[in-house]
Amino acid sequence: MSKKSSLFACQQCGYQTPKWLGKCPECQQWNTLVEERMERSDNQAASFYTLNSKPLPLTQIEMDSNSRIITGIHELDRLLGGGLVTGSTTLLGGDPGIGKSTLVLQIQNQLTQAGKKTFYLTGEESLAQIRLRAERLGIQNQNITVLSENNLEVALQTVAQYEPDFLVVDSIQTVYLPDLGSAPGSVSQVRECAGKLLYFTKSKGLVTWLVGHITKEGSLAGPKILEHLVDTVLYFEGDRGQPYRLLRTFKNRYGATHEVGVFEMGEQGLLEIENPSSFFLSHKEQSRPGSVVVSSLEGTRPILAELQALVVPSHLATPRRVTVGVDSSRVALLAAVLEKVCGFVLANQDIFINVVGGLSLEEPAIDLGVLLAMVSSLKNKMLPPSYLVLGEVGLTGEIRPVAGALFRILEGKKLGYKNILLPKKSAQDLKAVQGNKDLSGIEFYPVTTVHEALGFLK
Ligand code: TYD
Ligand code: MG
Repeated sequence: MSKKSSLFACQQCGYQTPKWLGKCPECQQWNTLVEERMERSDNQAASFYTLNSKPLPLTQIEMDSNSRIITGIHELDRLLGGGLVTGSTTLLGGDPGIGKSTLVLQIQNQLTQAGKKTFYLTGEESLAQIRLRAERLGIQNQNITVLSENNLEVALQTVAQYEPDFLVVDSIQTVYLPDLGSAPGSVSQVRECAGKLLYFTKSKGLVTWLVGHITKEGSLAGPKILEHLVDTVLYFEGDRGQPYRLLRTFKNRYGATHEVGVFEMGEQGLLEIENPSSFFLSHKEQSRPGSVVVSSLEGTRPILAELQALVVPSHLATPRRVTVGVDSSRVALLAAVLEKVCGFVLANQDIFINVVGGLSLEEPAIDLGVLLAMVSSLKNKMLPPSYLVLGEVGLTGEIRPVAGALFRILEGKKLGYKNILLPKKSAQDLKAVQGNKDLSGIEFYPVTTVHEALGFLK
């Protein structure tokens, strides 16, 4: 038996309603509700999600029922918490053109070299396009099987015969189930296709990666609505004008979240960057006005980055506040602290802040660095060379402690930053580990207020 009905689904967040609305009540976006025909047989849910499992006493459950497959791409294995987990489904989201297809093809190449069977299901590009990319990457591999098919039911029959260890669906927005009336890429198709793939993956014990496009505006719903379904969500980010790419774990049932892997997109595809800090620094030998080196903790990994500020007299009635890579409201807040607490006049100054290398920093631990960079540019003074600045700034101008100070400092030391300007509280916490010989040779400069920190600008 089958029921036919039609629903309006928000293409942004997946919210469903039986009536059309101009504005989605869930995500507050306008004109995102699209009519989708829902057609499902009554036993469809059952066929999707039953795995014939039996109830077991807690203590009899095997602890390590999932095994891991090491890809050999070190950054990726580390990010995933030790390789790919069999039976798991991962969503790889990112802007179009960022390098998702390149990454999955490179993973497949690595895996086949380790004797694994891989399957590349493409609904997006022709076989010839995939071959071209492989040629460009120097991949000539017999053991990667590629199928171009949009009908997921047909495709999965072929995949089942082939029994791969690793399946890639590129992309989840281009496959469809013929039972559903709606178009590929619509909320209901994306959700049902992913559900089917999830079940297929678990029951066959393979590893599946779903590629999903997501634009900055989030205009393609696909990936967002899958985040709670899949085991792992990875986002591939970066500026297309810049070579570096960040792979972030947004969710991971088998490892830590908010981990970051750093890659560089080159002629030969993606290369791992083992020492990202040196990648994002420009010239550490000489210091210049407006330039400060800070440390941002991305997951468990500290990345050193150079902040640059330009504070110049404005010719506009409303001076400009332009930031690239740091939150502009945070910069406005820090500028207000400088005006109120330190008596600087910034109302007639344009403020430009940039992070070298195109990195985006979101942590409050960079506050003090942003503030010093602004004053450094305004007053044409600078920090002596090899200073690393850590600290969150409070509204009254107090310097608040940062998490993970030790890791940041050790990373700084590796790159020659031996003078650490840091919150007093963090310095006190570090006393406990001062016996640590890794910290030998490092000069600590603890500060409690913005005033004290400004004293370091010469
Ligand atoms: P692609 O993997 O097709 O992106 P996505 O699947 O996320 O849409 O990568 C597209 C971009 O990467 C394209 O602009 C070209 C660039 N690229 C390189 O710079 N070097 C390479 O070796 C390859 C294969 C692609
Ligand atoms: Mg692609």
